[in-house]
Amino acid sequence: MQARFDATVAAEQRIEPRDWMPEAYRKTLVRQISQHAHSEIIGMQPEGNWITRAPSLKRKSILMAKVQDEAGHGLYLYSAAETLGVDRQDLTEQLLAGKAKYSSIFNYPTPTWADIGAIGWLVDGAAICNQVPLCRASYGPYARAMVRVCKEESFHQRQGFEILYELAHGTEAQKKMAQEAVDRWYWPSLMMFGPPDADSPNSAQSMQWKIKRFSNDELRQRFVDMCVPQVEVLGLTLPDPELSWNPDRGHYDFGEIDWTEFHQVLKGNGPCNAQRIAHRRKAHQDGDWVREAAVAHAAKKAARTKQAVAA
Ligand SMILES: [Fe+2]
Ligand SMILES: [Fe+2]
Repeated sequence: MQARFDATVAAEQRIEPRDWMPEAYRKTLVRQISQHAHSEIIGMQPEGNWITRAPSLKRKSILMAKVQDEAGHGLYLYSAAETLGVDRQDLTEQLLAGKAKYSSIFNYPTPTWADIGAIGWLVDGAAICNQVPLCRASYGPYARAMVRVCKEESFHQRQGFEILYELAHGTEAQKKMAQEAVDRWYWPSLMMFGPPDADSPNSAQSMQWKIKRFSNDELRQRFVDMCVPQVEVLGLTLPDPELSWNPDRGHYDFGEIDWTEFHQVLKGNGPCNAQRIAHRRKAHQDGDWVREAAVAHAAKKAARTKQAVAA
């Protein structure tokens, strides 16, 4: 069974839910997919914060569509995780109990409208860099979910870019607001790729299993290379004095990341960690009646079908 699994992965074919798989592979996927799902769901909050305050009806409808997309991403991903034999309710309980990880980026606040632009451009942009290679992940349900997610992410990134572009070409005060938001989100978005390769012990195994296709540092470099020409179009700057083109490497060199900040946020000491979980708990409680109604409806429907079959 192990040999067949290895051959399937080596041949770039997909592992499907009914196939045998090593327990460690299954566990790694459950961890990664559930963390990814939680990130989508918690990630609705920083932007949801601006739905009622978006500057126009058009901006409001775009932002609502974007935040709804993130909810959808969470749902596909919980479904993909369930194909590995876990229960969505258990995953949700782990999140609500504060035991599950999600992307640290969503523990930062969104004080201005420009933050919505910066999130779309940088955070969704970094998510695309991470997720496009996942469309070729060896586990079928995860890879297929990523295809649709990535299409939507590219819309998210463009809407963020467009918000920033508009502000950067507006009044002096608007331009300043855009620049400050980019300054706030740039470094945390670089941290989204995870620790440097040397400190990322699980990466090698994930790459061998073809869940992961590129290392954290490779993806981070790709992201920096993508941001530099785009920030020029925006007419803004990235908050890194060490950023410079390196003709020998064919890439941009960039400054040191402050990993102590990353670990502080990861440990729960970020600006909004407690608020995010408290809000999620309340939203879950508020949704109790919907879940109960759905279960009651399913039971009634099943009873009716049973009656019809008996008749
Ligand atoms: Fe998403
Ligand atoms: Fe997104």
